[in-house]
Amino acid sequence: MTGFADDPHHAEDLHAWHVLRPLLDGGGYLPWSTGAMRPAGLVVVANEVVHRGRTRLVECGSGASTVVLARLLRQRGAGSLVAVEHDGDWAALVTDLLRRESLEAIAQVVHAPLEGDPPWYAPAPLAALPAEIDLLVVDGPPAFHAGEEHRRAPALEFFAPRLVDGATVVLDDLARPGEREILARWEAGTDWRFRIDEAAGVAVGARGGPTG
Ligand SMILES: C[S@@+](CC[C@H](N)C(=O)[O-])C[C@H]1O[C@@H](n2cnc3c(N)ncnc32)[C@H](O)[C@@H]1O
Repeated sequence: MTGFADDPHHAEDLHAWHVLRPLLDGGGYLPWSTGAMRPAGLVVVANEVVHRGRTRLVECGSGASTVVLARLLRQRGAGSLVAVEHDGDWAALVTDLLRRESLEAIAQVVHAPLEGDPPWYAPAPLAALPAEIDLLVVDGPPAFHAGEEHRRAPALEFFAPRLVDGATVVLDDLARPGEREILARWEAGTDWRFRIDEAAGVAVGARGGPTG
């Protein structure tokens, strides 16, 4: 069995927990699991909010990350987040976590079941998403089972019309071959270019390429 300390990115994640502490201390318990973004990846997203003043966030796949990002937006006094969630029970749980911290005016979870082949979020609930997005985090739908590796591939084309000039897209789980293949497809078919942060396991992209 591989222990947490044997993880090759243990040091980065340990550092990230410390960096995230102001957003963790004093808040309620969050259900972290292997399904959640690694803390090092979450720091990349949080830094994007702070460095570039992002205020119009959408996240595919809700969870602890949704609550932490909502706390960050509240601390900064600006911005909102909509998390798209395929699982109704999980959507209700994350909504309850937000409500317990009075974060529901800042962050909402939109329940959009997966439908179609290949499966993607049902379009009707997504109509409620903001027309302008300056930071998109792609951490859903779940893609860890065999045969589901490319489930996140539709995200860039789907959200492109809403992504404002200068917007950033963060794709999580770059340690997996499926997400690498998605990135290669996105770069081959669009003018979006991505920088892979190997230590954080995420790719950060923008039209024409990320700056900074
Ligand atoms: C990669 S996870 C998204 C995690 C979320 N962005 C985060 O960092 O907390 C993809 C999906 O797994 C499901 N899930 C089930 N249990 C979970 C858990 N304990 N934490 C996070 N996601 C979970 C949810 O339906 C979620 O949309």
